[in-house]
Amino acid sequence: MVLEGTMEIRPDGHLWIGGCDTVELAARFGTPLFVYDEAAMRATIRRFHAAFQETGARYEIAYAAKAFCTIAMCQLAVEEGCAIDAVSGGEMYTALAAGVTPDRIRLHGNNKSYEELEYAVANGIRAVIVDNFVELGMLAEVADRHGRTMDVLLRISPGVEAHTHEYISTGQQDSKFGFDLASGAAHTALREVARQARLRCIGLHCHIGSQIFDTVGFTAAIERMAEVYEAGVRLGLPLEVLNVGGGFGIRYTEEDDPAPIEDHISTIVSAVRDAFGARRLAEPEVWIEPGRSIVGPAGITLYRVGTQKRIPGVRNYVAVDGGMTDNPRWALYGARYQCVIANRAQETPGGVWSVAGKCCESGDMLIWDAPLPDPEPGDIIAVFATGAYNYSMASHYNRLPKPGVVFVRDGQAALVVERETWADVVRMDRPLRYDMAPAEVKRSVLS
Ligand SMILES: Cc1ncc(COP(=O)(O)O)c(C=O)c1O
Repeated sequence: MVLEGTMEIRPDGHLWIGGCDTVELAARFGTPLFVYDEAAMRATIRRFHAAFQETGARYEIAYAAKAFCTIAMCQLAVEEGCAIDAVSGGEMYTALAAGVTPDRIRLHGNNKSYEELEYAVANGIRAVIVDNFVELGMLAEVADRHGRTMDVLLRISPGVEAHTHEYISTGQQDSKFGFDLASGAAHTALREVARQARLRCIGLHCHIGSQIFDTVGFTAAIERMAEVYEAGVRLGLPLEVLNVGGGFGIRYTEEDDPAPIEDHISTIVSAVRDAFGARRLAEPEVWIEPGRSIVGPAGITLYRVGTQKRIPGVRNYVAVDGGMTDNPRWALYGARYQCVIANRAQETPGGVWSVAGKCCESGDMLIWDAPLPDPEPGDIIAVFATGAYNYSMASHYNRLPKPGVVFVRDGQAALVVERETWADVVRMDRPLRYDMAPAEVKRSVLS
């Protein structure tokens, strides 16, 4: 069982989080329900800050909102001294709606629309991380039209990919993101951006992967990034930032053993100092963009048990009231999770149960072969480490309403996203009609 932060099993056999009984939370707010341990999220961000402060480096932490983007989460991240890394107009809109000042927002994305760039420039956000040549031209035009100069970072694919314990150093990187180094696109981009009067290239960016356990991939990427940075400095670009992205790994199961945050940060800063020192470059400000590591371990999902099916000699299935609609990660990448029966957490497992969702899809599975006491209808199953890329990837498949989200702290629960109703699911549907007025047909994303 991966109990993180304030999670504990109390003598009544219930799972508690943030001083709240999960069984009561399920009864009060309904299931499925995402529950976030507020103290744990704040503590993780503080560990990132402390780790940087220990090194004496100039730094910035931008919370990668894609991991879990809601108004309350943006507020929490900013209160803890983070900027917000948004990857779409919708995420920028959420951050602004949360009261985040534009100078704390950066925009990412491999296919930003004209509308999204306009929104970024008109609102005066801090920086755009430019991904490709089409965007470079489009952003220069938008900035010109608004009579503004935009700070930009160029996203480079350095030919280093990292995932858990492995890192691969490739010559030619096959990725949809960024200007790649091997083909010369990165160096061409430096020259292009230098020609744009309305774009001020203040930095370079790379993101080498997700669920990274070892620090070695960061070191390899930073060495390559220093080479590009040096070329940019020679061209006269006002570079002052090296952004090394996110990807810091977490424990989904007891077998996962990611390097501590402190090790990642001290390695990153040392690698920057070594690579930049060797080239006699001024030490840049180091930016990072953690998402999963902040929200992943702090979140759990509560489900209510419905039906079950025993296939003698084959497998036992227990079905819950959510599934791939609130957690598509097993279906997408075979992601592994652990769970507990939250109202009988001290009982010894009686067998092995596979936890299925309620969608009409055989791949709608949450966990295979979990040791559990025999589940009864009405039991509450808590799945651990579901705080990242679960709610944010939720869908309406089978027209299931999206779950609610609560933050818990010191025995109190705050509803931060209401659970949807069936009426919400059909809210945007229209009866068949061919005579719509143009305004009804083409709604602006801002109206
Ligand atoms: C550019 C960029 N930055 C940051 C992140 C956040 O990564 P993680 O949530 O693994 O920390 C991602 C994730 O895909 C990303 O693509």
